[in-house]
Amino acid sequence: MTSVLEASGLTKKIKGKTLVEAIDLQVYPGEVFGLLGPNGAGKTTTIRMLSGLIRPTSGSVQILGADMQQNRETALQKVGAVVENPELYTHLNGWENLLHYARMHGSIGKEAIQSAADKAGIGHRLKEKVSTYSLGMRQRLGLAQALLHQPELLILDEPTNGLDPAGIHEMRRYFRELAEEEGLAILVSSHLLSEMQLLCDRAAVMQHGRIIHTAAMNDLLQGGERIVLKTSDKAAAAALLSVSYTEEDDGLRIDGTAEDIPGLIRQLVDAGVAIDAVYPEQRGTLEEAFLDMTGGKAI
Ligand SMILES: Nc1ncnc2c1ncn2[C@@H]1O[C@H](COP(=O)(O)OP(=O)(O)OP(=O)(O)O)[C@@H](O)[C@H]1O
Ligand SMILES: [Mg+2]
Repeated sequence: MTSVLEASGLTKKIKGKTLVEAIDLQVYPGEVFGLLGPNGAGKTTTIRMLSGLIRPTSGSVQILGADMQQNRETALQKVGAVVENPELYTHLNGWENLLHYARMHGSIGKEAIQSAADKAGIGHRLKEKVSTYSLGMRQRLGLAQALLHQPELLILDEPTNGLDPAGIHEMRRYFRELAEEEGLAILVSSHLLSEMQLLCDRAAVMQHGRIIHTAAMNDLLQGGERIVLKTSDKAAAAALLSVSYTEEDDGLRIDGTAEDIPGLIRQLVDAGVAIDAVYPEQRGTLEEAFLDMTGGKAI
């Protein structure tokens, strides 16, 4: 399947400070993809580059095959985005806000406006001035605005911020419906693992401006076992392996379980590889990794 959104090597530096570095990600039709990370990890900065609000220092963004740098207008045609506080005119009412936005997009009829507002759960409050809206209502109006032109990609920064539990539940159901039934690709950010767990199909975990892990949500949550091999002979050991492994200073971390250890030892001994230690290790789950990152807070 071809991706709707593809970012490669996205990097943002401001005044010599690296905010975000080497971000690679793809989002496919029909999936909800999460950007998960603690405060300050770089989620909003990444999302602002993905939705064309700021220029990357290097790297590229492609949306439905159109390059954001070279062809910004085409790239953004099928994108609906709500980044940070949605841009709203607080002296106008909800309907007028949507109407204003619809006009900028050309041919969007009144029915389409009402329908987008209904979908976002704000359809019955459009006559009220936005200055009197609660945070959650503003979020909903922002979402309605993002949906007006029937995008194929939705990009939402912390979309459930300010919503009450019922609102979060409803929005989650709605995102799943948009993805599953209408095939939208949806990218959302959050610092709440519990929320992402319920909402996303896949997620990328960000820390200090980098993606440290991207995987299906289930895989991220499961963890599992692996084998620690300590050896001064990493290259020789690696050459024997037919499973995947990562290299560390003092040896290798190898995919496998305790049951694979006797066979592994035999192989290593036969090949004359020096073994300092071999033992199974519980691979951390995303939850543990996340607790580490956030110091056990804000999860
Ligand atoms: N305009 C800017 N100039 C300098 N530094 C910035 C700027 N914008 C963001 N930063 C820094 O970049 C880092 C990433 O910020 P960003 O807003 O992308 O994080 P985030 O993951 O969205 O965090 P949060 O969960 O708090 O929203 C932070 O250290 C922040 O202080
Ligand atoms: Mg943010």
